[in-house]
Parts: sequence; C-alpha cells; structure tokens
Amino acid sequence: MNAGHEFSAVRAALPQWVEESRKLTSRGNVASYIPELAKSPASALGIHLLNGQGEHLTAGECGLPFTMQSISKVFTLILALMDHGEATVFSKVGKEPTGDDFNSMLKLELVEPGIPFNPLINAGAIAVSSLIKGDGPEEKSARVLSFFRELAANDKLDYDEAVYRSENETGHMNRSLAYFLKENEVLDGCVEEVLQVYFRHCSIRVTCGDLSRMALVLAFDGQDTLTGKTLIPRRFVQIAKTFMTTCGMYNASGEFAISVGLPAKSGVSGGILTLVPGRYGIGVIGPALNRKGNSVAGVDLLEKLSGRFDWSLF
Ligand code: DON
Repeated sequence: MNAGHEFSAVRAALPQWVEESRKLTSRGNVASYIPELAKSPASALGIHLLNGQGEHLTAGECGLPFTMQSISKVFTLILALMDHGEATVFSKVGKEPTGDDFNSMLKLELVEPGIPFNPLINAGAIAVSSLIKGDGPEEKSARVLSFFRELAANDKLDYDEAVYRSENETGHMNRSLAYFLKENEVLDGCVEEVLQVYFRHCSIRVTCGDLSRMALVLAFDGQDTLTGKTLIPRRFVQIAKTFMTTCGMYNASGEFAISVGLPAKSGVSGGILTLVPGRYGIGVIGPALNRKGNSVAGVDLLEKLSGRFDWSLF
C-alpha cells in the first residue's frame, strides 16, 4: 500500500477501532499507587498519529492531558547520552531486560555489580537522572524540560505540580531503590536531589499530540522533519529504540514485540509513545491499565493498527 493510500485507510478505520478498543477499558484499572493518578478518566482512549510531512490523524480523547511518567525515561536516557556518551552512561546502567516489575528491587541485590539492568525500569531511570548535567536539581530539571519542549515543539510543556507532589510524598519504593543505588555507589550526590529530578520528569504533562511529535523525531533517526533540524544524534536514537523494543513495555515487552512489533514506551498514566520508522510518530492515551502496567485499550488499538497495516518490524 503506498503512503497516501495507507494514511487515508488509517483515517477511515481509526474512529471505529478506537470505539471497539475502548470497550476493553472496563477490564483495566487506573494506577492508584500515585494517589493523584487515581483521578484519571478510566474509560478514555485517544490517539494522535503524525507523519513526516506534518499531517496528522486523531481519534477519541486525543486532547486529554496526562503525565509522561515512564515515557520520559526514553528521553532522559537520550539527554544523559548526549551529556556524557555511552561509556559513562553504561557504567551506571545495564542493557538487559529484567522480566520483573518496573519498580522491582529483586535483581539489584542478586546480580553483580549491582547496577540496574536497564534505563527504563525505575532503578535504571533514577541512575540516569543522576547523570543529567546541571548545577543542582532545579537546573537539571530545567534542562530536561527544555529538551522535551524542543522535541515536542511545544514551549508550553510543563509539570503537573499535583502529580509531582503526590509522587514525591508517596514514592517510598523509589526512595528505597535510590538509597540502595547510593549504597552501591551507582548514584553520586544527594539522593533526594536525584529523586527530585526523577519525579519532576515523570510529572511533565503532555497530550497525545506532544507524544506523536517526540516520537516522530525518533521515527526519523533524530531529525525533526518539520523544521529540518537534527535534535538527537542517530546513534542515540538507535540505542533508545532498541531499549524501547526490548524493555519499553516492561515485562510485557516480548508479548508486545510479537503482537505489535514496534519500538514503544508506556507509562502508568496510560500513555504509550510508539513509532513506525521513517513514517509515523504516534501518541496514545488510555488510563486503564492491564496487570503489567500498560494501557489495556491502547495496546489493543495498536495491535489492530499494526496487524491491519503490516507495521511489525519483525
Ligand atoms: O516511578 C514511578 O513509579 C512512576 N513515576 C513511573 C512508573 C511508570 O510509568 C511505570 N509504567 N508503566
């Protein structure tokens, strides 16, 4: 199918598929371990798909604001790589999937040398947050926010302060992971300051449109096709997409690779960022999560799209 024909076919199919997938939201639950997230609308489902020429398709509640949560980890990894290069980053965090829950502490104790398995689990993302350059947590967070604004081409991106406070007050598991990393000399500096940077980037508020624009940069190997600028070195996009494929959907990444076959990253607010290389950036929101912590309806919708249009990379 040629590109124009496919775009029209996606446009024709999307509204009905969103309504079909939306039915699955009743099988999921919104995250409540961060109390503020429990207020998310459980039956919502929205999608925004953007191509390299800037044409977009939307369906469902695509304008719903939500926090990036773990989706932010892809881009803080990229920023840390741009700040320090591969050797330094991968001395603090590994390259392997875990098969464990995203906030698990299990393998940190079991495996030498005690560095987190990968940058997309919480322990790994906390280690990466400690690598962001800047004089103190405020400057580090400001650098992250300005990088995300550039990628999303949206100067208005900002923190959801209520979600930030809610996670900061209740993030006991993340605190324990961070102190464990400090004890193992993975984290330099003050643990609370590193956590501030981590909680801040998780609380950046976006819509599906913002995610699709950020994903489009990855889909075109670091180029913003709409401005002609190179925003990320190609090698770091390659690394990010590989982690998204092997670890982006947590311990459902293998299942997602089989059923959808695209690099993707989910977050507990119900967002999914994914891309079709050289073609589309895609943002999805569906706050009701399955048992593995991924948007139950969002995954179903992506399965429909990938299956019908043969998007799997494998
Ligand atoms: O650290 C946390 O638990 C959250 N800020 C992010 C976790 C997350 O999004 C995992 N996603 N599925």
